[in-house]
Formats: sequence, structure tokens, C-alpha cells
Amino acid sequence: MCRMLIRLKIKKAVIPAAGLGTRLLPVTKVLPKEMLPIVDKPTIQFVVEEVVNSGIKDIIIITGRNKRAIEDHFDKSYELEAELERKNNINLLESVKKISNLAKLHYVRQKESLGLGHAVYCAKSFIGNEPFAILSGDDIIKSGVPCIKQLIDVFEEYNSCILGVQKVLDEEIHKYGCVECDLVSEKIYKVKNLFEKPKSNDALSDIAILGRYVVTSEIFSYLEITKPDSNGEIQLTDALKKMLEKHDVYAYNFVGKRYDIGDKMGYLSAIVEHALSREDLKDDFKKYLNSLTYGAHALH
Ligand code: G1P
Repeated sequence: MCRMLIRLKIKKAVIPAAGLGTRLLPVTKVLPKEMLPIVDKPTIQFVVEEVVNSGIKDIIIITGRNKRAIEDHFDKSYELEAELERKNNINLLESVKKISNLAKLHYVRQKESLGLGHAVYCAKSFIGNEPFAILSGDDIIKSGVPCIKQLIDVFEEYNSCILGVQKVLDEEIHKYGCVECDLVSEKIYKVKNLFEKPKSNDALSDIAILGRYVVTSEIFSYLEITKPDSNGEIQLTDALKKMLEKHDVYAYNFVGKRYDIGDKMGYLSAIVEHALSREDLKDDFKKYLNSLTYGAHALH
């Protein structure tokens, strides 16, 4: 008998962007952290572009109160477009138009801060019965091949949940979902166990989940039975840990550099490194940085 292997395609992505951004208060009191600019582009636009450059057009963003600016950013801006047209500023006009045509964006509000797992669960009826990508809305990953495309390629081979991971310093692992796993192929690990934010001395590994996942729709039934943690939050890591009892889960050591925009140092390094990579800014910005280090305005 000939067995047909059904290859499931990833056609939808979920971007959780409902977090309160408490590490960046007071700016996040009214401004969503996902809208913080990396020079002149909001963080979440980098994430949406990563999805689009990976071949996915259907995206749902999980928002919350005080996150209206995200929807406005990706909406059409009639006045601005008319004004730019009147002034014949074609380049800016095209770049503004491009934003509202980037993808098919959908929105759902997470009404209470009940954790990443709960935020993903809010996308259940949009996703239905197919595998999908998850990208944290405040993590930018700079890479040649878009990070989520790298995970999708691994998913197409393994047909199981894939977690985007990298090694972190031992003293940093307490900030992340920690993955205990065995290497099965180049850069690919089979997951044996998962721990959400272990205390550094309890951590069994230095491999951390870094804001990118491809999961099967079974995750929703595991989220339904996942109990809230001590902070009252339903963790995606805990649902994946339950899933491990019946399903294979893999981790992929993606190629790229991740910037956590919800963290002050992560945000600063994203801006500095992005500016240094931009043709229109890098020469002047380098000169300026050098003047701080060696020049009259040297920092002490
Ligand atoms: C979340 C996840 C955690 C992951 C981290 C970075 O935590 O719960 O497993 O390692 O994102 O992607 P958060 O930073 O939202 O507290």
C-alpha cells in the first residue's frame, strides 16, 4: 500500500503583542512597546516583514487596551497620502502605502494579562485546524534567511512543533523558557523537557526559547488544560511541556541575532546596530560614536 505523506503548509502567523511593557515604563504607559521605533520603523513592522518575507500573508496580532497605535500604523492613512501626493513626495508616499499593503492583518484583544499561552489561545478560531507560526511582537531577529522561515523549513521536514532557540549565558537563562534536549541533526534538537524561567541554579541547560515557534493546532487543546503559574499566567512553555507527553517537539538553533525590545539594553543595541547597518546613516553615525569615544565629547 502506498502511504502518502501529507505536508502541511504554514499559512498563518500569530503575533502576541498584548504585554504591558512594564520594564520600559513610563514610555509604555500609552505607547505600545511594539511601536517603539528602531530609528524610524516601529518594532512590530520588522516582525510583520519577517513573516511576509517568509511567504505568509495572513497574520493575527493579539493586542490589548492601549495598543490601538498598532492597528493605526498598518491602516491606510488618507490624509497623509493625499498630502504627500500633493507635495509630489513619491518616495515617502510609496513607503507609507507599502505599510498598509504589507499583509492581511487581523486583530483580537486579549482582555486580561493572562500570559503568553492565553494570548496565543485568543487566536484559536482564526487558526482553526492547521499548523501556524508564532512570533513575539517585541523580539526583532536580524538574519539573512528570515528566522521564522528557517523554522518553517525544519517544520516541513519534521511535521512537529519547532521552537526557535539559542544558547544564552548561564546567568541569563532565568529570563527564558529553558529547553532540555538532545542534538539529532545539525542545529536540530529533540526536546526532552521544558521549564519556564528556571532559577539559574536549577536550569538543566543553557538553551533558551527566543520568541519564535512553529506549532501544530493541537497546542490549543494543551493550552486548555494548562494551569496558570504562580503569577496567574498561562504559559505557552507549560502547554508545550504537556504536549511532549504525546507528541515530538523539536528545537532549532536558528541563525540570527535577537534583540529584546522590551528590555532597555536590548532596545538600545537594536537601535545602534540598525543605524550602523543603514547606508543612509552609518557613516555619520560612526563618526558620532567615535567622537564620543575619542573626541571632545568623550563619555566618562
Ligand atoms: C516569553 C516566554 C519564554 C521565552 C521568552 C522570550 O517570556 O514565556 O518562554 O523564552 O518569551 O521569547 P516573556 O519574555 O514574555 O516573559
